[in-house]
Amino acid sequence: MIALGCDHGGINLKREIIKYLDSKGIEYYDFGCYSEESVDYPIYAYKVAKAVAGGEFEKGILCCGTGIGISIAANKVKGIRAAVVSNEFGAEMTRRHNNANILCMGGRVTSEKDAVKFTDIFLNTPYSSDENRHIRRIKMISDIENGSFDY
Ligand code: RB5
Repeated sequence: MIALGCDHGGINLKREIIKYLDSKGIEYYDFGCYSEESVDYPIYAYKVAKAVAGGEFEKGILCCGTGIGISIAANKVKGIRAAVVSNEFGAEMTRRHNNANILCMGGRVTSEKDAVKFTDIFLNTPYSSDENRHIRRIKMISDIENGSFDY
């Protein structure tokens, strides 16, 4: 189950992503927003990030104008690794290496076609959990979050 969210700057991308998810039969819940009216992106970042961090949703997708503000807000929630992606390589690597659990994109910088392509890659690429260096680095990120970083 995928958690979706956006602000007015990312609603065009979210609409295309919904079409893609529908076409693939992938289940999702849309936490809003639902129109082009100006809204505050941290609201939707928080809703989606809490839903993913709580384990209720496997992954999340967030869109704002640049993908940046909404990713910064989502990353404040413990357990979230939200990545702004702007190319196919990034979409793949942030799953393989960072085990990113939220994909962030920007409706003012990324085309709808590319956003669907990055979504497809993000949802279909596994984490390289068999490689020790990635496990170690993800653990370091958690240690930063928990105030126990000591390397
Ligand atoms: C909203 O105008 C815009 O600031 C927002 O969508 C996002 O780009 C912030 O990072």
